[in-house]
Amino acid sequence: MAGQDLVFGVNGEKFEVLSVDPSTTLLEFLRSNTRSKSSKLSCGEGGCGACIVILSKYDPVSDQVEEYSINSCLTLLCSINGCSITTSDGLGNTEVGFHPIHKRFAGFHASQCGFCTPGMCISLYSALSNAHNSKNSQPSRDCLTASAAEKSIAGNLCRCTGYRPIADACKSFAADVDIEDLGFNSFWRKGESREEMFKKLPPYNPDKDLITFPNFLKERMKRQRNVLDQKRYHWSIPVSVAELQGILATTDSGGDRGLMKLVVGNTGTGYYKEEKRYGKYIDISHIPEMSMIKKDDRGIEIGAVVTISKVIDALMEENTSSAYVFKKIGIHMEKVANHFIRNSGSIGGNLVMAQSKNFPSDITTLLLAADASVHMINAGRHEKLRMGEFLVSPPIIDTKTVLLKVEIPSWTASSTTGLLFESYRAAPRPFGSSLPYINAAFLAVVSHDASSRGIVVDKCRLAFGSFGGYHSIRAREVEDFLTGKLLSYSVLYEAVRLLKGTIVPSIDASYPEYKKSLAIGFLFDFLYPLIESGTWESERKHIDGHVVPTISLPSLSSAQQVFESKEFQPVGEAVIKYGAEMQASGEAVYVDDIPSLPNCVHGAFVYSTKPMARIKSVGFRENVTPIGVLAVITFKDIPQVGQNIGYISMFGSGLLFADEVTICAGQIIAIVVADTQKHADLAANLAVVEYDLRNIETPILSVEDAVARSSLFEVPAEYKPEPVGDVSKGMAEADRKIRSVELRLGSQYFFYMETQTSLALPDEDNCLVVYSSTQATEYTQSVIAACLGIPEHKVRVITRRLGGGFGGKAIKSMPVATACALAAKKLQRPVRMYLNRKTDMIMAGGRHPMKITYSVGFTSDSKLTALEVKISIDAGIDVDVSPILPLNIVNSLKKYDWGALSFDIKVCKTNLPSRTSLRAPGEVQGSYIGESIIENVASSLNMDADVVRRINVHTYESLRKFYTEEVAGEPDEYTLPLLWDKLEISSDFKRRAESVKEFNRDNVWRKRGISRVPVVYQVKNRPTPGKVSILSDGSVVAEVAGIEMGQGLWTKVQQMVAYGLGMIKCDGSEDLLERVRPLQTDTLSMTQSSYTAGSTTSENCCEAVRLCCVILVERLKPTMNQILENARTVTWDTLIQQAYAESVDLSARTFYKPESSSADYLNYGVGASEVEVDIVTGRTEIIRSDIIYDCGRSLNPAVDLGQIEGAFVQGIGFFMYEEYTTDENGLVIEEGTWDYKIPTIDTIPKQFNVQILNSRHHKNRVLSSKASGEPPLLEATSVHCATRSAIKEARKQYLSWNCNNGDCRDGSEVGFELPVPAIMPVVKQLCGLDSVEKYLEWKTCT
Ligand SMILES: Cc1cc2nc3c(=O)[nH]c(=O)nc-3n(C[C@H](O)[C@H](O)[C@H](O)COP(=O)(O)OP(=O)(O)OC[C@H]3O[C@@H](n4cnc5c(N)ncnc54)[C@H](O)[C@@H]3O)c2cc1C
Ligand code: FES
Ligand code: FES
Repeated sequence: MAGQDLVFGVNGEKFEVLSVDPSTTLLEFLRSNTRSKSSKLSCGEGGCGACIVILSKYDPVSDQVEEYSINSCLTLLCSINGCSITTSDGLGNTEVGFHPIHKRFAGFHASQCGFCTPGMCISLYSALSNAHNSKNSQPSRDCLTASAAEKSIAGNLCRCTGYRPIADACKSFAADVDIEDLGFNSFWRKGESREEMFKKLPPYNPDKDLITFPNFLKERMKRQRNVLDQKRYHWSIPVSVAELQGILATTDSGGDRGLMKLVVGNTGTGYYKEEKRYGKYIDISHIPEMSMIKKDDRGIEIGAVVTISKVIDALMEENTSSAYVFKKIGIHMEKVANHFIRNSGSIGGNLVMAQSKNFPSDITTLLLAADASVHMINAGRHEKLRMGEFLVSPPIIDTKTVLLKVEIPSWTASSTTGLLFESYRAAPRPFGSSLPYINAAFLAVVSHDASSRGIVVDKCRLAFGSFGGYHSIRAREVEDFLTGKLLSYSVLYEAVRLLKGTIVPSIDASYPEYKKSLAIGFLFDFLYPLIESGTWESERKHIDGHVVPTISLPSLSSAQQVFESKEFQPVGEAVIKYGAEMQASGEAVYVDDIPSLPNCVHGAFVYSTKPMARIKSVGFRENVTPIGVLAVITFKDIPQVGQNIGYISMFGSGLLFADEVTICAGQIIAIVVADTQKHADLAANLAVVEYDLRNIETPILSVEDAVARSSLFEVPAEYKPEPVGDVSKGMAEADRKIRSVELRLGSQYFFYMETQTSLALPDEDNCLVVYSSTQATEYTQSVIAACLGIPEHKVRVITRRLGGGFGGKAIKSMPVATACALAAKKLQRPVRMYLNRKTDMIMAGGRHPMKITYSVGFTSDSKLTALEVKISIDAGIDVDVSPILPLNIVNSLKKYDWGALSFDIKVCKTNLPSRTSLRAPGEVQGSYIGESIIENVASSLNMDADVVRRINVHTYESLRKFYTEEVAGEPDEYTLPLLWDKLEISSDFKRRAESVKEFNRDNVWRKRGISRVPVVYQVKNRPTPGKVSILSDGSVVAEVAGIEMGQGLWTKVQQMVAYGLGMIKCDGSEDLLERVRPLQTDTLSMTQSSYTAGSTTSENCCEAVRLCCVILVERLKPTMNQILENARTVTWDTLIQQAYAESVDLSARTFYKPESSSADYLNYGVGASEVEVDIVTGRTEIIRSDIIYDCGRSLNPAVDLGQIEGAFVQGIGFFMYEEYTTDENGLVIEEGTWDYKIPTIDTIPKQFNVQILNSRHHKNRVLSSKASGEPPLLEATSVHCATRSAIKEARKQYLSWNCNNGDCRDGSEVGFELPVPAIMPVVKQLCGLDSVEKYLEWKTCT
């Protein structure tokens, strides 16, 4: 058949692509060939949701349009022939008006940096459209449930907001939502009626607001079969198995497909990143025999190309007597990947990946337990294999074998037997979106034993997968053992013992013992209720593959936020974030959205994999220069007048490239420059660095080594913290002492959604314009100038906004910008770089790991008398900003009155990645150390930690002693005791603490803990410039040095300018907000711009522009007075016109310099969290968190609330989920979304209440405001402490399972440290890896 052109629609516009590399993804096309930049690249592996779009497909036969969300980063362009794509800006935009989804995201303050927002909007849109289509004619508000609305974004990552406002925006569309449960928003005021609230929401009408399929594509699809011209696209679309066989027959006779690839959703490349180039793709998704679903009495047949979503629908809609097993499988499959991967990934693709590449599949485990079979074809020969046989047969992926379909048999019970099917997966995220540590599926036929009234296992199939074996397996020995047995504790004990020998993770599998214990826990959970109840008919204690708590929790996260009054209008109002709707539609421009000039080239880093080694050569695999490569740039390309310099901080500078010898793994060795970013990335992967390890010093890879070899960074005197009081005396006064306790804290990665990026453009006269995603424009300018050996005035660094920063784009953005500038200078053409997630993770450095040893003295009633701390901070190879750490740690550690405090803090220089500032750098560790010590003191005295905390929180007098009088401020500024008491009431702390005790008494396999922690956080105001200019039409531009990265800096500046200029008090001056536009930072316009960090940049920028406004108001007053001589009023427009006519200078620049005596101030907050721990899996669930934070007079409560919640959830990530580790060479192990787990919607507190305290006026602070960006992160320590408290209960119980005397010993004396992060394996280990065996042993002996 004659081939056609590739034609599809994007937001209604027709695109005809005449030829394309078949490996081109939809995202690559969208971002480089269309106007829409709404779909963002963040992970490139299907794990974040930033790139998702709506795919609409038209079926000419049924005349129906099918519509669902897909990821565009893995979807191949040729696969969308004839389809229509809609991006977030296709739903609505600045030109045609925003979609209600965009408006609600903005109004619920659900977009901070905005990088995730378009993807979030698409996820919600997809859920709305599904709900509408499934219910049709009814308005969608009546269809979407709150739970589905919340789940719709379960696969989308957001690093800024903490998800609560996003969930609210989504739930506002739900039929069953209680509108009063929705959090703070700009639509209604507190106290309005429900009807009024609904009316004020931007209206949503599915008939108008859902997209329509373009007619031009409908007509085309009616006329033509979906066939692409082979020669131009190398893409076949067979429509029958016979045709497919014919195509395969024409490949090499050796049975190898060679460079041909079968493809369905192509999601497999999210896991197995492809370096190979395929000559031809065969898209098998259009073959009817392989796309069918057939059901009959014998079971269900599912074509191999059916998407996982459709498989779930088919399994769940079954209503026959055999539906039970199908439904269970369907429920489990809802946790496979995320909704957009399930929408495009096929069941066959999953099975082939599992069979041929050992992919840790959930689906193979389920199918193995259900005794499914697969049908395959090879050269016309059909074969049917049972799942177990299929998995152990030779890999089919590189043969001509095609998987045709899957058959799942029907399972029914007889009148005398019971049929049981349960599945399990232990994963960090309950809604899916993460691979499990292990999964399991169990099928059993059971019957009653007439004589004993017990239960007999007649038959069972026990399948386990994902545990680090080659593929899913059946535990046959255990099955054989159980078959025919009457269930009892001893039988179960023997079964779990046998199982231990069956689950054998491979040598390189992580947490092997944990995985074994999970397998045991799952089997226990499956069979134990049968023994306990003697029946299979009772309600089982499982839900969605998880062991459910006995007291069920609300399924949705809910929240309340409370603030007090506001003033200085519009400052203090909860104004919607500047540009929020534009961020939601995806029109807001980030560095990588700036269109490329035609001759633009792209760079990727080659980095060292050795900590210390001489570089012999840099080349490519097999000495072949990869396609598209134009240059490889190393330190040798730095101009002679320049320096090999990659960053500057206030403490020193560091290299851009390794020169002769590498000094840490992850160090930049070269930039590969190629025609596209994809080619540059592929080439960097193919780069081969030859190392020579002879005569190389042994690298320093631990803080112990660094201390031993005196490899330390100097801490300047002004950054050295001061000890407090006399520790020897304090120790002498102590009744009790705990000595030399060691703690360790690991690192954390930023996980900003936008990775490091830059674009450098050569300009006339040897100048450069560099667009950089940096928090430090001025420093970046200096580094580029120094590297190139040119004056700074030749370097213009421009930054508009960042897709998240969190400190990671201060120092670590500079090498990226400098490398681009160097390449642009050398090649004399534009060069851009957008680091892929893996490279970003390897180079980012992240938070400082450290080793802490402390000794503490206290009285027997828990009053602290002295603390001695030794800390060795791993700063990595570069000084970066590490010398700030000691002061930051001590400042937050001082939140308690330790009596006396001394420390010895060393900043160690190691050959490990250079660590940098990450939101609350040092402070979060200091706060944690303090809490850990308090917990230990409380344990040793057998006291409640909450009581010990309250006893040792500062009085105002001790606060002054620890922080100095200047920093402590006036007595009524010390609001911590007030916050402590307020939170006690608002969180109902005391009553809940009692309920926790009760819960722990009543539950064996779940334990709870509750904990409240105080936070004291010192910040410093810094000098900063600002500029305000009034234009001839009365509109205003504000330029500030601070960078907008989601923290709402621009919005606060906009408000402050409106307030400041409003002081002129003419007609219309109270409505200036809309007329103010904040501008991007440009280092040649806004000089001395310094950096954005330390939480206070927003307020400093606000003060800078306020001072500008004061000048402008003074300049405008004479004109105003003059006009008022002849008129009763004067409007803003008239005033400005007149001032222009009189040549009044309407542009003012100031440089705000805080008084040194008042530059530092303290922030206070208290956080209380309740956590539940599942002893079987080690999973933790945050049942509720309450935070109270003193924001002073908040400049914008909506922005500050967003900062507080976002910081808190990032803190949860640090304490509970995020492992950022290095291998024995110091190379970062975690590479992306597969192994780095930031919190998602399903891991935030189920109930999340935030109060902002508007404390008193203060003349030294900017309009009495306080910082909110970093301090609330420390409140997440409460989650960790509550987890520790729950584990303590589990350990007590474990000790009580004692066969020797059976008594219930108090286990609290068994001290333990709960590591950070408290991930599932860690929690399980502390609760007892063998808890199930121990329990069964105890049960059998009692
Ligand atoms: C982010 C993410 C998270 C995931 N999480 C999970 C999870 O939690 N649990 C889980 O079980 N899975 C998970 N997966 C795996 C997912 O289920 C598979 O990627 C998907 O099912 C593959 O289907 P596909 O159509 O995209 O396959 P493709 O990527 O198109 O193909 C995969 C491979 O199989 C071959 N192939 C495909 N179909 C056939 C066929 N019929 N005959 C012969 N060869 C064939 C292809 O040539 C290719 O080599 C996840 C995937 C991603 C990207
Ligand atoms: S960029 Fe596509 S899912 Fe992350
Ligand atoms: S707003 Fe979600 S990542 Fe920034």
